[in-house]
Amino acid sequence: MRAVVLNGERDVSVQEVPDAGVPGPDGLLLRVERTAICGSDLHLYHGPMTIPGVHLGHEFVGTVEDVGRSVTSVAKGDRVIVSGVIGCGHCPNCRSGDVVTCQNAGLKVFGTSLELHGGQAEAVGVPAADACVVRIPEGITTEQAVLLTDILPTGYLGAQRAEITPGDVVVVIGMGPVGVFALQCAQFYGPSRILAVDRVPDRLTRAEQLGAEPIDATDGNAVAKIYEATSGHGADAVIEAVGADQTLTDAILCAAPGATISVIGVNLNMAFPFPVPVALMKRLTFRVTIAAIPTTWPALFPLVASGKLHPEDVFTHRLGLSEAAEGYRIFDAREDGVLKVLLDPSS
Ligand SMILES: NC(=O)c1ccc[n+]([C@@H]2O[C@H](COP(=O)([O-])OP(=O)(O)OC[C@H]3O[C@@H](n4cnc5c(N)ncnc54)[C@H](O)[C@@H]3O)[C@@H](O)[C@H]2O)c1
Ligand SMILES: [Zn+2]
Ligand SMILES: [Zn+2]
Repeated sequence: MRAVVLNGERDVSVQEVPDAGVPGPDGLLLRVERTAICGSDLHLYHGPMTIPGVHLGHEFVGTVEDVGRSVTSVAKGDRVIVSGVIGCGHCPNCRSGDVVTCQNAGLKVFGTSLELHGGQAEAVGVPAADACVVRIPEGITTEQAVLLTDILPTGYLGAQRAEITPGDVVVVIGMGPVGVFALQCAQFYGPSRILAVDRVPDRLTRAEQLGAEPIDATDGNAVAKIYEATSGHGADAVIEAVGADQTLTDAILCAAPGATISVIGVNLNMAFPFPVPVALMKRLTFRVTIAAIPTTWPALFPLVASGKLHPEDVFTHRLGLSEAAEGYRIFDAREDGVLKVLLDPSS
């Protein structure tokens, strides 16, 4: 079978690899129908997490080709959504859908280790299926389903955990697809204004079309611009959807006294210089979230199926799996108006 393999820094290729199989009695073999490239894949693509030989990808949907003998929730032939993150599948937390706080194995992400290859491939083995797989519900398209494997749940939890109350001023930092979903979900909570921060012109334009006020961070002065736009008030709630040291710092500095900062960007810097005195003097609440994807499905399925959310609008590029290297290059360079890249393993 073919899979997208990470060879080294900024080097991926589609290669023939050994066929995937059912990874144990609680697992299944999935024939992948569609898969997407995520901002989190970039942490492997250009460091600091490069793992040569890994098959990338944690956002994928497809058809169940074979199941282990203890799997009860889905069967051969079902078309399913797979959570991009999994746990052991059996502890109480996993069984409740909160796989991130798994009491046994801890959090695992597809396509980030040689033990759990990813789904940017023709097929993939999925362990712990009863805890992390669900049939694609009626009224949800294949492309929408792909976005329910990771980034729509992430944006949704980013907004939910920002504790937005009606009338609040909200700042969303980062207008990649994750930030776009955070912005759209923040609107459910009735903020008076949403300020959207990025450095890419077409991403700022998109934010404006979604009803936010664009703040251009290109000159490094996003915080000053936020205070200017809010007459010195700052943000009652901040959602950070980038993961850079700069944007984490900006999130803390632009927060109004008593604000909540909800971080969904992934930052892997163990030595991040957290400005504790600022947080102390403003009595800030700081929350960091890796999305427990299955917990969000009961809320998100109806929001998507009813047309309240149109997540598929983020797909700007639809390529064959064979074009994955170009997909990564464009997505990383933010070229050609790219927001989100979808890959089709059949070509
Ligand atoms: N917490 C989770 O469960 C989870 C899940 C998926 C993705 N993520 C993370 O979310 C983040 C965003 O993912 P994405 O797919 O939207 O990625 P992306 O790379 O498309 O988006 C990042 C955006 O941040 C902007 N940006 C970079 N530096 C900036 C700065 N200094 N000021 C303002 N904007 C800046 C970029 O221009 C870009 O638009 C990544 O860190 C990813 O790993 C987290
Ligand atoms: Zn992702
Ligand atoms: Zn568990």
